[in-house]
Amino acid sequence: MEEYKDNFDLPAKAPGTALKGQGNTSPAVDRISDLMCRELINRAIKAQKMSYAPYSHWNVGAALLAKNGNIITGCNIENAAYTPTNCAERTAFFKAVSEGIREFAAIAIVGGPDYAIKDYCAPCGVCRQVMMEFCDPKKFYVIIAKSEDAYLVYTLEEILPMGFGPKNLGK
Ligand code: THU
Repeated sequence: MEEYKDNFDLPAKAPGTALKGQGNTSPAVDRISDLMCRELINRAIKAQKMSYAPYSHWNVGAALLAKNGNIITGCNIENAAYTPTNCAERTAFFKAVSEGIREFAAIAIVGGPDYAIKDYCAPCGVCRQVMMEFCDPKKFYVIIAKSEDAYLVYTLEEILPMGFGPKNLGK
């Protein structure tokens, strides 16, 4: 397995997003390769098939890229008591952290009704906060996708401005 090396050191441009393949440019999209985005989206689509969502029928898959090159996938797992439900993103993070992986580069997310993917599925606020715990908000990329050919890339900071994280507690 090869260590993940995208170019984190390029100067940041103005905040923005990109729809790959449709002519937009993005600060984040310049710093993670199209190939890597596609691979993560592909893995997220496969993870969505494992989604357990008998109550909402909203099925989500995520693929989390660790800096060591590992890709850890996750799906949402619902519960009859509702509140124990875990989102796909957090499933991926908790799997990774429980296996000793704590450094992350990017996550791809797909979701939609009844295992379809009709539109972009943005991560919920709770999942953004979990990302904030383990990721540098300026350097962690959140890829939301409709397919390998249609995706948006954001930095965590863009989707969680002024996030509260370990640094606020001096960690
Ligand atoms: N869900 C996720 O897994 N990730 C998201 O980004 C949005 C929401 C799940 C939680 C719940 O099982 C279902 O989708 C409907 O909210």
